[in-house]
Amino acid sequence: MRSKNQPRPESEQFEKIKTDVYSCAGEASNQVARETAELVREKNAAGRPAVLGLATGSTPVRLYRELIRLHEEEGLSFKNVITFNLDEYYPLPKEHRESYWRFMQEQLFQHIDIPEENIHMPPGDVPRNEVFQACRDYEQAIRQAGGIDLQILGIGRTGHIGFNEPGSARDSRARLVSLDRMTRQDAARDFLGEANVPHYALTMGVGTILEARRIILLAWGGAKAKVVARAVEGPVTEAVSASFLQGHPHARFIVDKAAAGDLTRFRLPWLAGPADWTPPLVRRAAVWLSGKTSKPILKLLDENYSENGLGSLLTEEGPAYQLNIRLFNEIQHTITGWPGGKPNADDTRRPERASPFPKRVLVFSPEPQDAVLCLGGTLNRLVMQGHSAEVIYQTSGNLGVPDEEAWKFAEVLAESFPADTPDNLGRTVMRQLETKNLNETDPPETRRLKGLIRREEARAACQVCGVAKDRIHFLDLPFYEKGRYRRFNLTKEDADKMTAILEKFRPHQIYAMGQGADPASVPGLCFESLRRAVCKAQKTEWFKDCRVWMSNGTAEEWALHEIDMAVPLSPAELAGKIKAIYQHQSQRSQAPHAPEHLREAWQQAESRNRETAQAYDRLGLAEYEALEAFKLWQPNPG
Ligand code: F6R
Repeated sequence: MRSKNQPRPESEQFEKIKTDVYSCAGEASNQVARETAELVREKNAAGRPAVLGLATGSTPVRLYRELIRLHEEEGLSFKNVITFNLDEYYPLPKEHRESYWRFMQEQLFQHIDIPEENIHMPPGDVPRNEVFQACRDYEQAIRQAGGIDLQILGIGRTGHIGFNEPGSARDSRARLVSLDRMTRQDAARDFLGEANVPHYALTMGVGTILEARRIILLAWGGAKAKVVARAVEGPVTEAVSASFLQGHPHARFIVDKAAAGDLTRFRLPWLAGPADWTPPLVRRAAVWLSGKTSKPILKLLDENYSENGLGSLLTEEGPAYQLNIRLFNEIQHTITGWPGGKPNADDTRRPERASPFPKRVLVFSPEPQDAVLCLGGTLNRLVMQGHSAEVIYQTSGNLGVPDEEAWKFAEVLAESFPADTPDNLGRTVMRQLETKNLNETDPPETRRLKGLIRREEARAACQVCGVAKDRIHFLDLPFYEKGRYRRFNLTKEDADKMTAILEKFRPHQIYAMGQGADPASVPGLCFESLRRAVCKAQKTEWFKDCRVWMSNGTAEEWALHEIDMAVPLSPAELAGKIKAIYQHQSQRSQAPHAPEHLREAWQQAESRNRETAQAYDRLGLAEYEALEAFKLWQPNPG
């Protein structure tokens, strides 16, 4: 890490908050845990308590895990630590399974030696007429403790810190706030439906947060990349409350590579300093320039390059026309109707090799609908072209089935038995749903039925894509079966299942998704479990003949310059893909007339594939109806 006196590198010139980028969230969290432990020990040695401001959500989970480890294995004591949490849903009793109070107990407090009286949480259960006073008392308690030494923050997609949604003032104090629609939607899964998410929360204000002596904001995963860039490089604005951290002398962002992806030094590095013109960077620059000037690649002029900060590229690779033709051909060759390789064809310029043919292909689907959402068209082509494609469902997806959907199946099941049959799965589930406690996870029978519903949907979707029943595999990874959203934990059992499936098939091609997703999310964990298995497989002989293709899951599509293989879908193939997605009926949007980001999954998949085709068209390449995009993954250990 750079010492305090070293000048800021030129590449970071656009960043108004110091931002440290780590290769993964785990490494970054360990670093923050070390820094926290140092503070606690320093304060302890000086006979003073360390006052920590803490956050909840999936972001700090790894940090808390590491603090627990430091406590258990390295004797770090929290006896002299005072904590203040940022926020709490309102109204919500402490005991609710999604209360931040309970979250903190489960994720940190009950595993360390912090005295109960040192823990402070905004009270989500005070009566409405006492809220104002409770907020004042909370601020007063922070002052009495001597102020916060180190405040840990996450960031919401709305740019919120704490629950300071857009519109929060710089000097706002602890108060009751109304939650943004996007924030409630992000919490919908945890609360088993958006309707159950509280509309309000108690939160420290922006002003309260800015009074902390040191602030570290953590962010992981590509879904946070845009908002991180706005907070770090954009104007200070109430529209992104994290941007107020620009005015704090000791605020830092600690992010993983995916969350840093939209910072200028990564997105447009040639604008941030001298560029090392590697082939991927050249492609990135030309695609960007074509978009900026609204010109197809072959029409870009020398002056377009030089007037847009790409003079050094021309010096190295120009003149423009020569460079344009080379790039045009390169991008053209990413398009193939033969995702498994074209047998007996010259494959020197094709994304996938011709032999072996047919190939053994494994398609990994984190949650059941992901496979068809991401590669329904490609999967169908692989099967039609004679490859043996196996679909591996990594998790059962039972947490994602709404109760009303489970009820229908339970009722059908119950009625299929004579009325005097004492018990059956249908009746048991109906009883469980009738007496359901929103504070608790579903009992095993309900989870089982929900899992079976998703299995059947997956089989139906595969059938539309031409995949035979005996080529469908359900792994039911234990991390998912034993866990809950935001609190999943990969174990050796997951690793063993993933390794076993790779070993069983020894594939020539793997399709995966979830790279760059929030590492605590289901796709993020599924990807991590695959990454570990692949790293292990890399040492084997069979893996030398295996390629891994990445779909960008249901996150934003790969940028054009990142795509190594684009598979066209004809109008009929696109319709087939939508039909396959339709089979996942339990996943229909629960919100009719929903805004853009809540549209039905099939609509999102359709427009995403159409947009990719349009983007190729705008570059001056062939105009297709739709394209599914993949990036060749170079798995590296770590
Ligand atoms: C939580 C909090 C929020 C979260 C933010 C990100 O106490 O204050 O600002 O940090 O919503 O949530 P995750 O980490 O779940 O992405």
